[in-house]
Amino acid sequence: MEYRGYDSAGVAVLTQADGLVVERKAGRLANLVSALDDAGHGAFAGTAGMGHTRWATHGAPIDRNSHPHRDTAGRVAVVHNGIIENFAALRAELEDSGVELSSDTDTETAAHLIAREYDHGSTAGDLPASVRAVCRKLDGAFTLVVTHADQPDQVVAARRSSPLVVGVGEGETFVASDVAAFIEHTRDAVELGQDQLVVISRDGYDVTDFHGDPAHGKPFTVDWDLSAAEKGGHEYFMLKEIEEQPDALANTLRGHFRSGRIVLDEQRMSDQDLRDVDKVFVVACGSAYHSGLVAKYAIEHWCRLPVEVELASEFRYRDPVLDRDTLVVAVSQSGETADTLEAVRHAREQKARVLAVCNTNGAQIPRESDAVLYTHAGPEIGVASTKAFLAQVAANYLVGLALAQARGTKYPDEVAREFGELEAMPSAVAKVLATVGQVRDLGSRMADSRAVLFLGRHVGFPVALEGALKLKELAYMHAEGFAAGELKHGPIALIEDELPVVVVMPSPKGRAVLHAKMVSNISEIQARGARTIVIAEEGDERVRPFADELVEVPAVPTLLQPLVSTVPLQVLAAEIARSRGYDVDKPRNLAKSVTVE
Ligand code: M6R
Repeated sequence: MEYRGYDSAGVAVLTQADGLVVERKAGRLANLVSALDDAGHGAFAGTAGMGHTRWATHGAPIDRNSHPHRDTAGRVAVVHNGIIENFAALRAELEDSGVELSSDTDTETAAHLIAREYDHGSTAGDLPASVRAVCRKLDGAFTLVVTHADQPDQVVAARRSSPLVVGVGEGETFVASDVAAFIEHTRDAVELGQDQLVVISRDGYDVTDFHGDPAHGKPFTVDWDLSAAEKGGHEYFMLKEIEEQPDALANTLRGHFRSGRIVLDEQRMSDQDLRDVDKVFVVACGSAYHSGLVAKYAIEHWCRLPVEVELASEFRYRDPVLDRDTLVVAVSQSGETADTLEAVRHAREQKARVLAVCNTNGAQIPRESDAVLYTHAGPEIGVASTKAFLAQVAANYLVGLALAQARGTKYPDEVAREFGELEAMPSAVAKVLATVGQVRDLGSRMADSRAVLFLGRHVGFPVALEGALKLKELAYMHAEGFAAGELKHGPIALIEDELPVVVVMPSPKGRAVLHAKMVSNISEIQARGARTIVIAEEGDERVRPFADELVEVPAVPTLLQPLVSTVPLQVLAAEIARSRGYDVDKPRNLAKSVTVE
């Protein structure tokens, strides 16, 4: 689970010998392992336990802020994901009643409140009831997992707007934020709903709502196994995931074109609703947002519908104009990104329809949407998105074709032809992968660069943004993506001798006008001393004289170009990061799923 946060890690185990034992350490999991060894805890003999990897929100990533947190008597242990928004008031209330808190976190307040309920409240001696009573007092998004020294056979977990799944094994039961935590032991899982609490024991699980009324989780079987979440001989997950992209694309397309029609995975809105759509918003964050920018070009071209692409974190705060004929496409690998989830909720409150593009079966965003198209990229462990991004781009094209089909802006044979072109993309991406040795070599030579600019036009513009994001997050290098035509309006002032500029060329055949303009842009920057690294279609001889480094990708239809041109940029960023000695899978300050706003 380390990919979800690696600022600190900790465990709490209910042991027969020593009761509740807690160890926690700032930094990577390896630090916790050493601390456990030093403390002589080589292996715990316990009945229940919990572990946590943290991405810091309240309180610096230091030992005392690491989870699990305990109450003053050290009998309750709590791990928590999310943010308790009313924690300042709760903390003040605890302090007024004489409780001394030992950390700067919001989580610790929950530990003290649960202990107080368990010891003195109307729910005394009943751990699930005590946790429920506290959950009702909390504002914000949270997943809590709680143990008590008096209840060695019980773990209680609760969720609101933050993920929690149960794993049902034989003679053992698990709770986790993601099935990856228990896939080694069982593929039988249960998804919990909003404001639900689960009590797990050796024999199974019991779900209630926050008022104690019986509730039901949704059972499902995980359709991948441990090997998908292992490096499989690769030096790092990101490289494995880059290489899995042809499969990720093929799996995303599979099953979505049946009997001559594009089909979604889930549709809780009518075909008429799709026909009535008169405006599309794509809302997403980070790489998913870039996939949305690509979608804009395709959907506007294929469907003749206006498309706006919005950063999910901005969307609901600027009062967008939405109504029941607006389709909001929420793109999220994890399906649990808080900014995107809140954008979905805002859209639905305004009566807009929401279609989720998601890589995680049953995650909160698809659950709260009117339609879902799953990207079947498989688990992505590297924090930087690669195969999930490419799958999102492909899935967004499918959304565009589904809309074109519903609105009749494309005839069935045209939809079939576009889908056929998409089906050829896995082998085009495999072809790119066969030639990335040149990019790796280039990356190792660029390790000392101070900054890199990325330029693109048309669908190459989002690719440039994605290339820059990869480089920033992995190599901690100043990187900016620009629409090439915008350069002369300011950014060209950044060009200096030997500054590497990566240029994503449009196809000379598909977009001849843009190609010509781009060649002019390259000569302008070369004249000012830039070192040009050009990603261009095979056989593009016109651009060759302007390329200090030329990386060729196969010729593909204009709108599909991001699927091939993004790949060298992923490899470039990973190689520069590796050459600079950074952890490619776990870049500093980041976490894979951002479940706080
Ligand atoms: O799970 P999501 O697709 O909603 O995540 C969105 C972003 O947090 C994610 O794409 C992030 O930008 C990646 N680290 C980029 O590589």
